[in-house]
Amino acid sequence: MTDSIAAVSLHGVTKRFGEDVVAVDDVDLEIRDGEFFSLLGPSGCGKTTTLRMIAGLEFPTDGSIEIYGEEMGISPPNKRPVNTVFQSYALFPHMNVEDNIGFGLRMQKIDPAEIRTKVGEAIELVQMTGMEKRRPNALSGGQQQRVALARALVNRPKVLLLDEPLGALDLKLRQTMQLELKDIQSEVGISFVYVTHDQEEALTMSDRIAVMNEGRMEQVGRSEDIYDSPGSLFVAGFVGDMCFLTAEVVEAGAVRLSGGEIVRARTSDAAGTSVTLALRPEMLHLYAEASEAPSGRNAVKGSIARSVFNGGTMFYEVDIGAGGSFDVRVENKPSMRRWDMGDSVVVDFHPEAATALAQ
Ligand SMILES: Nc1ncnc2c1ncn2[C@@H]1O[C@H](COP(=O)(O)OP(=O)(O)OP(=O)(O)O)[C@@H](O)[C@H]1O
Ligand SMILES: [Mg+2]
Repeated sequence: MTDSIAAVSLHGVTKRFGEDVVAVDDVDLEIRDGEFFSLLGPSGCGKTTTLRMIAGLEFPTDGSIEIYGEEMGISPPNKRPVNTVFQSYALFPHMNVEDNIGFGLRMQKIDPAEIRTKVGEAIELVQMTGMEKRRPNALSGGQQQRVALARALVNRPKVLLLDEPLGALDLKLRQTMQLELKDIQSEVGISFVYVTHDQEEALTMSDRIAVMNEGRMEQVGRSEDIYDSPGSLFVAGFVGDMCFLTAEVVEAGAVRLSGGEIVRARTSDAAGTSVTLALRPEMLHLYAEASEAPSGRNAVKGSIARSVFNGGTMFYEVDIGAGGSFDVRVENKPSMRRWDMGDSVVVDFHPEAATALAQ
């Protein structure tokens, strides 16, 4: 990235509610111009509070927020170049689609011809052409959310804030809308700050993700990096499926499992440190003998303790005795070897696929 100005920056932002609650805890964050940025984390970690402070619906107890280089202070929502879409669509029930979308523009006393053009563009953007005259109660949940989105985009904010906007939709529709939202974001090119507790949703849509935990940013990075290189046990456990084994660092790049086997892994802690080894189930492979496995990788002996058919994949639990067990996911292909309970196997994985994380 160049040193272009950040869309949103938070400097040492803390938000307290009363004496006891620290909802957001000393957060520094830069959201770049034009990016799809997600705040991801479990319930109560401070996502909504962070978003509401950017929107101007709450103000920081400490620290400051800039939007495109301008210090926001205590300026109210309507004085900020942002708009917000919430989970509840909050459409006006007595107004049809185009009146809902044009409402804000009419309040600003914009020329009616211009309003018509802008509303028309927004309707096209969210693919609601032909439904202009319908009222919200004659629309599906997904369609209502499109109208809410069009209403938020019609006056072209510099930053769009979205708080779990797809939370009320069923899984299939949510997945369709995820891709559509991403397309719309690319098309309009404005920065989206997207709040979700759904890690798959965040991975699917985001350029970058901030994983939040108890008011703090645990890790900020590209979706791929968060998935491939979790920086903490919390992130490893929260984003995607992981299998965990207890281990101890032997030297840089090597750990000893509790059963005594030494395997190569990514380490950042000193020799002797107790760590948890985190592995993605899909990065593990099974062989009958170590000699069948590719050389230069790790091979740990075990036996099949459980197998679960999952449609597209097979899931195996491989017991390695005192060392614990591996979770292995294998894609279902006609050529795939099936293992039975009790079969002796070798679990094979690349050293880069195993991350040793401090406990
Ligand atoms: N107005 C308020 N008064 C007191 N405490 C609050 C207030 N708003 C939020 N909190 C507390 O601040 C913390 C963070 O809340 P927040 O709504 O930001 O979480 P969240 O990450 O959005 O969670 P969820 O995924 O459940 O929406 C929680 O402990 C919450 O109870
Ligand atoms: Mg929330």
